Amino acid sequence: MKKLLAFALALSMVFALVACGSSAPASTEAPAGTEAPAAGETAAAAAADAPGAGKTVGIAMPTQSSERWINDGANMKKQLEDLGYEVVLQYAEDDVQMQVSQVENMIGQMVDCLVIAAIDSGALTAVEAQAKAAGIPIIAYDRLLMDTDAVSYYASFDNKGVGTAIAEYIVEAKDLEAAREAGESYTIEFFMGSPDDNNAVLLHQGIMEVLQPYLDDGTLVCKTGRTSFEDTCILRWSQETAQQWAENYLSGFYADEDLDIACSAFDGFAYGIRSALEAAGYTEENWPLITGQDAELMAVKNIIAGKQTMSIYKDTRLLAEKCVTMVNAVVNGTEPEINDTTTYDNNVLVVPSYLCTPVAVDASNYQEIIVDGGYYTAEQLAG
Ligand code: BGC
Repeated sequence: MKKLLAFALALSMVFALVACGSSAPASTEAPAGTEAPAAGETAAAAAADAPGAGKTVGIAMPTQSSERWINDGANMKKQLEDLGYEVVLQYAEDDVQMQVSQVENMIGQMVDCLVIAAIDSGALTAVEAQAKAAGIPIIAYDRLLMDTDAVSYYASFDNKGVGTAIAEYIVEAKDLEAAREAGESYTIEFFMGSPDDNNAVLLHQGIMEVLQPYLDDGTLVCKTGRTSFEDTCILRWSQETAQQWAENYLSGFYADEDLDIACSAFDGFAYGIRSALEAAGYTEENWPLITGQDAELMAVKNIIAGKQTMSIYKDTRLLAEKCVTMVNAVVNGTEPEINDTTTYDNNVLVVPSYLCTPVAVDASNYQEIIVDGGYYTAEQLAG
């Protein structure tokens, strides 16, 4: 496919050169009297007409340490290549400086558009300004690019909605209303996302909007007292740090008291919490409710095995699709689909956005949402 595209692009370049060399106006119509184009030429003409023909998109992704970003990158690369774009896809393995250099290099290559899922968007403002000066438009992917006027569009999920979905799941699964009436309580600890990621801040807001009243009246008891974002955020979404926190909790001062709910903002945290619980001797009998985000393959397997209670399914295929319409818009002057023009203020401008809807998945609905939806096959989940 790649070879075919390269061939088609090469042909289209030859055509373009020939057109430039002639004095006749550029036309896609064959002059009267010429033969119908051969099949290969038709394909070449079609490829030359493809929205991405002759254009390159630079995609800067945060890390391959978590499955979701691998899927995001792969989905976007495929969809863009299908439209004729060349794609430069790079991962920075959560190294902020590496991401800055990768974006700088893409600007040096004069890509036609940049798609950035930031590690620390605060560190990118200078390169974003460089891109703007070079006339390269930027799309913020999943994570909002803060403090810059160089961003054209934002493709993401309803990030506060992720938080409310997690919290509402907890309220229902533990029937907190009944617990409140009966004067019962559950212990809960919070594991929130990276402080340099706007998504993490919004997610925490969404969670607290729902759970704060239960914390206030004692239906939920946070033994460590750590409920604020500042106290519960985990830099770079580190699984190791989440595991360490869980180990400290389970072996320390609160070791004698079962943890009922681990309110975790990420599947990676849930894996770390699971390891800590197993090491501390937790069994099916006292296994807590553990939340997550991304519905990674391992997370869904853990849900089936009863080691994680739920996750938030975010269809990265759909997100990639929405982002691709934005790339086309900035490169070819078309209109992308936007469904939010008020929420995502990056401190400089309100970035026009398309927000996909996050969906809570657990053992009761993963078959319908994940398997029937074609996200993972039953074989993948069984393997
Ligand atoms: C994304 C989440 C992801 C997290 C850690 C966030 O910005 O929105 O889907 O779990 O980063 O990678």
